[in-house]
Amino acid sequence: MQIPQLGLGTFRLKDQQVIDSVTMGLEVGYRHIDTAQIYGNEAEVGRAIAASGVARDDLFVTTKIWTEHLGRDALRASLETSLEKLKLDRVDLTLIHWPSPGDALPVAEYMEALAQAQAAGLTRAIGVSNFTIGHLKQAIDAIGAPAIATNQIELHPFLQNRKVAGFMREQGIHLTAYMPLAYGKVMEDAVLRRIAAVRDATPAQVALAWLMQQGYAVIPSSTRRANLESNLAAARLTLTAGEMAEIAALDRGERLANPAFAPQWD
Ligand SMILES: NC(=O)c1ccc[n+]([C@@H]2O[C@H](COP(=O)([O-])OP(=O)(O)OC[C@H]3O[C@@H](n4cnc5c(N)ncnc54)[C@H](OP(=O)(O)O)[C@@H]3O)[C@@H](O)[C@H]2O)c1
Repeated sequence: MQIPQLGLGTFRLKDQQVIDSVTMGLEVGYRHIDTAQIYGNEAEVGRAIAASGVARDDLFVTTKIWTEHLGRDALRASLETSLEKLKLDRVDLTLIHWPSPGDALPVAEYMEALAQAQAAGLTRAIGVSNFTIGHLKQAIDAIGAPAIATNQIELHPFLQNRKVAGFMREQGIHLTAYMPLAYGKVMEDAVLRRIAAVRDATPAQVALAWLMQQGYAVIPSSTRRANLESNLAAARLTLTAGEMAEIAALDRGERLANPAFAPQWD
């Protein structure tokens, strides 16, 4: 199954703010919505989707299993709860949000549980998030690389994650870039601003185009209609090889999502 390349993130957005963001997003043309159990907004995302009138078949909805629900039985039950909140019979993609903290649970256990939930029809596709090369190898051993629809990881001009991205390319595993705008920091970067000025674009569009041109899906979030619209329009921007190379040189290993329970990064 093809993951639409440009989706709408919903991390941090709650209550009316997430309803407004998803409603505006669907109005301006987003068809891929990214939520998670831990965001505490699945019910509001579901309300916004239901009220939008967009046909279910035209939508791609992702949720993510929280670390406390990785046990064999807990995983499926938690996904059923997510579906109720989202008011959907099934989601399009379900990700393991983070590897089990401290590897308390074996990767094979929760990957197999996720594959069983897929076989039971709760989700069309399955994948992982924040997986290192080591975790990916275990997931591949458990269910095979073709069964893993994506690894959603932090990737933006300032954290290019080349090791894990290279391993994924070798294995044919698709990459979804989260925090593609480095949580707004791309707007302040001199190189991105210069390229944006030359191309009559915004630095956010330049960052998104740079990611999409490498084949990655992107899931920027915004609470503003103008930003939602202009981010979506990044799909029409094609950067030159020289511009791509200039952005590749901006890597500074700047990781923004690094909670205490994160794995040992590559
Ligand atoms: N799997 C994971 O562990 C994980 C972790 C983090 C995030 N994610 C996913 O990735 C999504 C994106 O990450 P994120 O939301 O943290 O950060 P992000 O998309 O990189 O940045 C969002 C920030 O950028 C601003 N922004 C958006 N478009 C803009 C534009 N055109 N011009 C100027 N500012 C703009 C937004 O402010 P305004 O609201 O003012 O536009 C917001 O403050 C999340 O929502 C979530 O779905 C997943």
